[in-house]
Amino acid sequence: NTIVASIINLLRMIITGNYPNLRLRRSRKHEWSRRLVQENNLSSNDLVLPIFLTDGKNKKIPIKAMPGVYRYSINSLGLILDKAIERKIPMVALFPYTKISLKNNFGTEALNENNLVCQAIKYIKKKYKNIIGIMCDVALDPYTIHGHDGILKKNKILNDETIKILTEQSLLQARMGCDVIAPSDMMDGRIKIIRKKLDEENLEEVQILSYAVKFASSFYGPFRNAIGSKSALKGNKKTYQMDFKNHNEALREVALDIKEGADMVMVKPGMPYLDIIRSVKDNFKIPVLAYQVSGEYSLIRNGINKKIIDKKAIIESLMAFKRAGANAIITYFADSIDKNLFD
Ligand code: PBG
Repeated sequence: NTIVASIINLLRMIITGNYPNLRLRRSRKHEWSRRLVQENNLSSNDLVLPIFLTDGKNKKIPIKAMPGVYRYSINSLGLILDKAIERKIPMVALFPYTKISLKNNFGTEALNENNLVCQAIKYIKKKYKNIIGIMCDVALDPYTIHGHDGILKKNKILNDETIKILTEQSLLQARMGCDVIAPSDMMDGRIKIIRKKLDEENLEEVQILSYAVKFASSFYGPFRNAIGSKSALKGNKKTYQMDFKNHNEALREVALDIKEGADMVMVKPGMPYLDIIRSVKDNFKIPVLAYQVSGEYSLIRNGINKKIIDKKAIIESLMAFKRAGANAIITYFADSIDKNLFD
């Protein structure tokens, strides 16, 4: 009897599990039905907007390599922040364009409490209080003449010496009111030391978003142009940023940063690394942010501007991050997505 029953069951499975009994297009027929079965969702809550800073007054300077993206002087920040807040974007990320005259071998401008980033944090917190979060990169590349994220000595990026400056940079940004400290330098052990120092200075409420998995990538080109570190960069960043051939190593980086105290982790660049995002999400139950970097932005933006692809490609590219398991996406498109595009 049980044998007969299982044979009938098997037959039923074979029959119903196949065309013409099964037609997946049925659920795609109507718009309401597609909405009903949709597995992922994207809203402005998922977006972080990067903002480039420049000195001067009343400035909004276009960035050649990134059409549609600008550098703002401090007193012009309202132009972009009002837009971000109106669109309910939860957080902005600040990046400074530093004059050559302020750069040196050690990136000491990073520790100037009147540098562009500090001025911007103060301005935003005074004007907007806690309506919107502020995230700041911790790394020296905007401030060093050689364009590297750390201290360069005899062709080497010094790990522990760099961490000392990065810790000071973190403390300064946190004291100014930065909500989320985001070390993007890839030095070993910096999360542990930064967390410890923040706690000692009663800044235990400041979050750390670790750029845990940052690959040495060609997709950062336009960004380096935007912050003025491109022509400066000597060599490449392969001795600290990850080799894009590796996957397991990415998981080791994340495991270490979580142990050291990271509240959130980032995978960067974005679209070429969706496999890594999924894997990090599956292996660690921690918020994962994806960075759709400048090169990805410029490629899509140029395609749209030249009418080679439709602007709906923006949402398609961002939804991919959600599908891969990202909680949020740092993207230069954040302020330019029309509400109706979300549907
Ligand atoms: C610097 C930093 C980089 C980016 C963010 N922080 C560039 C780099 O590592 O050279 C890239 C962002 C982008 O390309 O959009 N530490």
